[in-house]
Amino acid sequence: LPGSYAIRHPKQAARYFLAPARLARLLGHEITSDQVKHWMAEAEPITDHLRKRIEEEKWPGGKPQPGSAAAQDRGPVLYAITRALRPQQVVETGVASGASSVYFLEALRANGGGTLHSVDLPLELWDDPKFRDGVGVHLPIGKRPGWLVSDELRARWKFHAGDTRSVLPGVVSSVGGVDLFFHDSDHSYSTMTFEYSTAWPHLTAEGVLGSDDVDRNSAFGEFVRAHHLRSVEVGGFGITRKSPIPT
Ligand SMILES: C[S@@+](CC[C@H](N)C(=O)[O-])C[C@H]1O[C@@H](n2cnc3c(N)ncnc32)[C@H](O)[C@@H]1O
Repeated sequence: LPGSYAIRHPKQAARYFLAPARLARLLGHEITSDQVKHWMAEAEPITDHLRKRIEEEKWPGGKPQPGSAAAQDRGPVLYAITRALRPQQVVETGVASGASSVYFLEALRANGGGTLHSVDLPLELWDDPKFRDGVGVHLPIGKRPGWLVSDELRARWKFHAGDTRSVLPGVVSSVGGVDLFFHDSDHSYSTMTFEYSTAWPHLTAEGVLGSDDVDRNSAFGEFVRAHHLRSVEVGGFGITRKSPIPT
């Protein structure tokens, strides 16, 4: 993490430095904090590459707003979780430019297996009054959702275009066990609750459920309490799992 970034964003930097120990705790005794650090470092060239591609584009209003995984402390956390769990089936909601998708897909490539299913609205619905408030990001002029995902990475990627409420139930029931689920679509209480409870029954015994923006409302906390789970906060995400988190 560059020193200048740490000075400008002390809170994010602190989260980034705490992430390896917290992730190791989530993932169990067989994963050490040093291993997590190693995977997060493996993700650094991905961050550099994405940042460069994002800066090369023309953005509405002149300011890039590609989505949360493009922030420096977030994508490496997704990458490290995916490297550690070695999931076969990953499902994410909320693609935007595709930064989170790239971290998942690069980790699956490094693992040598696995598929990523990503759900997002088709571009035609981004301005629809029903969805506009939940979108919250921009794309570069002339680009479509997931534009950051290279052709090479698309071999492991299935993009499901549609409202999460109509698309997600079919996706999670068709994959034969979700190893890693990640929410980053519309952060309203009702959509977050809908997604957690739709994905949860399809999560494998060792499966992990993560969510961005858990501090927006009480949806994640209530879900964790209702299922008698423990959770950790890593890099701004709330993360929980089906099997108990070791103390
Ligand atoms: C925060 S962005 C995702 C950022 C991305 N995960 C990343 O970290 O790079 C939120 C995305 O959720 C999508 N979204 C919002 N409401 C949705 C809905 N009802 N169904 C599916 N996707 C939705 C938006 O179109 C937008 O692309």
